[in-house]
Amino acid sequence: MNNIVPHTFEVSRASRNSMKGHKSFVIWFTGLSGSGKSTLANMVEQQLFEKGIHTFSLDGDNIRGGLNNNLGFSREDREENLRRIAEVAKLFVDSGSVVIASFISPLQSDRDFIREIIGEEDFIEVFVNTPLKICEKRDVKGLYRKARAGEIKNFTGIDAPYEPPATPTIEIRTDQEEARVSVERILNLLEKELEITK
Ligand code: ADX
Repeated sequence: MNNIVPHTFEVSRASRNSMKGHKSFVIWFTGLSGSGKSTLANMVEQQLFEKGIHTFSLDGDNIRGGLNNNLGFSREDREENLRRIAEVAKLFVDSGSVVIASFISPLQSDRDFIREIIGEEDFIEVFVNTPLKICEKRDVKGLYRKARAGEIKNFTGIDAPYEPPATPTIEIRTDQEEARVSVERILNLLEKELEITK
């Protein structure tokens, strides 16, 4: 930050929130690959959109094709991946949008610094707790098979760690509950946070 002086703009986050008629924050989905993060995120976004809420989705597979296409899956690269995404999410929150982010974000330390960047009060953590066995059986993208065959290294759940969040805001068991019901539970939680005025 040498020789950099942040500029203060007159149009504030509060004024954007008031124009849109709701608050802005981040709903962060964490869980294994194939746990159902993006499916749930997509359903939640559709419901919010129908209510007239301004939303924006950030998703691992998409961001890694663009902004973060120079990053892989080493520990350092995952950290940089998540740091950039957290900073982008924060910008969108300042712009007045409800951000729906779906990233494995495997370590507690990852999620701690994401929370720090975004700010505790703007961070809702959704733990999509689908057991590895089920993610592997689904294997929608065929990546678990490749990881087991040694064709992909550092695959989360196989030869790279996933640490379950200690205190998620909400936990979803996609193997025990219909997606429709999970989405309803998430939306109930958001209802209070949104403080809709229009
Ligand atoms: S994170 O660990 O940095 O949070 P992110 O959510 O961006 O991961 O990307 C995960 C997606 O990348 C997975 O859903 C999967 O499709 C793909 N992928 C490719 N290689 C790996 C790997 N080694 N480990 C986990 N996911 C991988």
